Amino acid sequence: MPKKATAIAPASVALIKYWGRKDETLRLPINGSIAINLDALLTTTTVEFSPSFAKDSIVIDGDEKIEESVRAKKHIDRIRSRANITDPVRVVSKNSFPSGTGLSSSSSGFAALTLAGCSAAGLHFDQRELSILARQGSGSACRSIPDGFVEWLDGASSDTSYAASLFPADHWDIVDIVAIVSDARKEVSSAEGHKTALTSPFFDVRLRNIGAKIDRLRTAIGERNFPVVGAITEAEALEFHAITMTSTPALLYLIPNSLKLMKLVQKWRQEGLSVYFNLNTGQDVHLLCQGADVSTVQAKLSELDFVKKIIINRPSKGARLSDVHLF
Ligand code: PMV
Repeated sequence: MPKKATAIAPASVALIKYWGRKDETLRLPINGSIAINLDALLTTTTVEFSPSFAKDSIVIDGDEKIEESVRAKKHIDRIRSRANITDPVRVVSKNSFPSGTGLSSSSSGFAALTLAGCSAAGLHFDQRELSILARQGSGSACRSIPDGFVEWLDGASSDTSYAASLFPADHWDIVDIVAIVSDARKEVSSAEGHKTALTSPFFDVRLRNIGAKIDRLRTAIGERNFPVVGAITEAEALEFHAITMTSTPALLYLIPNSLKLMKLVQKWRQEGLSVYFNLNTGQDVHLLCQGADVSTVQAKLSELDFVKKIIINRPSKGARLSDVHLF
C-alpha cells in the first residue's frame, strides 16, 4: 500500500457562485455553481502516513499556519477514518500564488489534499467520490477535482452533491487574468462568510433566479458565446457582492482600487475590447477575455500603477497525481 503521494490541483474560480449552505457540517450548498479551473493558480501537496512519525505535522507555504492546519487536520481525519488507519501524517503544501487573499486557495488546497491523502492512504476513489470528499474540506474544492469547465450539482444529500466536468480544458481558449491590487489577507474567510448569506434581504431573489441563470451560462459556454458568458459572469459578480454587502454583518471585500479597475474594464468594453470582470471574496479583480485579446488586456493593465501583479490563467485539467514529492 502506498504511504506517500503528491497531488497538484487548480483553483476553481466560479462564474456562478457558491454562497450560502443548506447543511453546514456536510458543506451542502444552497445552489449549484459553475466554475473554470485555472492553470496558473495551483497547489501542490505531498502527504505521507507513517507509524514512525511522532505526531501529525502540516506545513503550508513553509509555515505551520494555525487556522488552515486545523481544517486540514480535520480533513486528514476524514481520510484516516475512511481508510481505517491511525498513523500520524506529514503534509507539506505549496501554493503557486498568495493564499487567503480571495484567489480560491482553499479550492486547490483541499482538492490536492484529498487526492494526495486518499492515494497515500490506499483509498481508490473515483472522481465523483473524490469530489464528494473534497467538498467536505472546502465546498469549492469539489470543483477542482474534474477537468476544465465544471458544474457543482447542489444535491439533496452528501452523495448527490459533487462536481463534474461540463467541458474539457481545451474546449475554449478563454483567459482569466487575475489583477492583484493588494496582498492584504481578507478579514472574513469565505468559510465564515457563507453563514451570513441568508441574512441578506436579497438572497431569496437570488435563489429564485439562479436555476435559469445556471442553464443560460451552461448553454453559452457550450456555444462559446463570449459576450453572453462575460455578461452573466460580471452581473453575477456584482450580485454576489450585493449579497455580501447587505448581509448581517455586512462584508465589504472591495477596496477603491478594485472599483477603479472594474470601471476601467467597463470603459474598455465600451471602446470595443471584449473584456469582462469577475470577483471573489477578496479585493483582486479577475479579467475575462478570449485568447486573441490577452496581449491587449495585458498592455492596458501594465499601464496601471495600482495593479501590483497579474497572473494569466487558461482553463486547466483537474487534480492529478505527481511523482515529484515535496519531501
Ligand atoms: O469553498 P469556499 O468555502 O472557500 O467558498 C468559496 C466561495 C466563493 O469563492 C466566493 C464562490 C465560489 O463558488 O467559489
